[in-house]
Amino acid sequence: MKKKQLKDVTAIGLPSRPHLKWVILAVAILISIASILYTNSLVDQIRERERRQIDIYASSLEFLANESGDNFLLVLDEIVKANHTIPVILTSEGGVPEDYRNISKADEIADVVERNQFLNKEIERMKEQHDPILVTLAGEDTIYGYKYIYYKNSFLLNQLRYYPYIQLSVIAIFGMITFLVMNYLRRSEQNMVWVGLAKETAHQLGTPLSSLMAWSEYFKGLYPDQQETLLEFDKDVDRLKTITDRFSSIGSEPQLEERNITETIDDIVSYLQNRLPSKINISTTSFPNRNIIGWINTSLFAWVIENLCKNAADAMDGNGDIKIQILMANEGQIAIDVKDSGKGIPKSKITDVFRPGFTTKKRGWGLGLTLVKRIIEQYHQGRIFVKESELNKGTTFRIYLKS
Ligand SMILES: Nc1ncnc2c1ncn2[C@@H]1O[C@H](COP(=O)(O)OP(=O)(O)O)[C@@H](O)[C@H]1O
Ligand SMILES: [Mg+2]
Repeated sequence: MKKKQLKDVTAIGLPSRPHLKWVILAVAILISIASILYTNSLVDQIRERERRQIDIYASSLEFLANESGDNFLLVLDEIVKANHTIPVILTSEGGVPEDYRNISKADEIADVVERNQFLNKEIERMKEQHDPILVTLAGEDTIYGYKYIYYKNSFLLNQLRYYPYIQLSVIAIFGMITFLVMNYLRRSEQNMVWVGLAKETAHQLGTPLSSLMAWSEYFKGLYPDQQETLLEFDKDVDRLKTITDRFSSIGSEPQLEERNITETIDDIVSYLQNRLPSKINISTTSFPNRNIIGWINTSLFAWVIENLCKNAADAMDGNGDIKIQILMANEGQIAIDVKDSGKGIPKSKITDVFRPGFTTKKRGWGLGLTLVKRIIEQYHQGRIFVKESELNKGTTFRIYLKS
């Protein structure tokens, strides 16, 4: 009954569904593609319509030239006035600009020569978008001239072309900001739970602990012949004190001290060696020498090494070697490898092991590595990751610390 309850709690503690992320991403990409394709088809339709409109000008020009000879410019003016959007330039057969519409920049240039220069440049740009339309000016049976109509996509059309990209970028930026804010809120909430629970635990353990220490002193006076038993009692009280210390460190701003990492790890290992199954052997190597100094909070750092070694011992079913290698890496970094010869972690699970609630053990809580990651990354500004893992060969965890 109790076991069942534990499992339920763990299930609630597993909020992240990795594939949900991909589903959301896929849907977002689909929506983006659909909206770009749709706008593109709108753009095509409008472009076609603009083309037809210009064609109509051309036809009207030809027709009017026929009817009223030289007056066509005047009439063109009337027709073209109906067009408020598409920039057009009418040129002579030789390409000299004769009239234009919807080019507001040209309107601002008072000087004729300058304006024509500008219009010529504009014609070049127009050529890149569309071929000009040839207008044939013909009388009853004679052709008396040609003109060209150059035109460009309207401002509306251009806006529409870029609209989906701008819209999607704005949505993406907004989505990202929302995600970051939510993430931040979730994190700060998690922090509060961690810190609060740890502080509370340390606080609650504190009172009985000082009372136990007082009792020990009292009994030492009362039973002078029982000193050895009482020393064992003191060791356990010390152990409880260490635990309380860890909880209070994780619940407050941690104090980092400059320490010899190799010696600190040796101390932790000699303590651990007696508490792990006897067929587990832990060895340490330190390179280039034993004098590797780093900034750590000793009681939290010990918790990290303990957790990694216990996991390693579990993975080896209580029989095998754990090798801890301390390396002075470049750029003021210390690398610590904890290597076991255990059953390894399947590739698909490597990113999961640090997640709260992930465990493959019957009696596991799946919080050990979460805590380890938190201690290394948040309290020591370091990094921890699975450096390598092979099924039935072993696993290496790597820690980077600042030296
Ligand atoms: N050295 C290791 N070798 C193989 N698997 C490991 C090792 N360390 C951790 N794991 C896997 O990661 C899981 C989570 O570890 P941890 O967070 O310490 O929780 P717990 O030990 O309670 O299961 C373990 O259940 C195990 O499957
Ligand atoms: Mg563990």
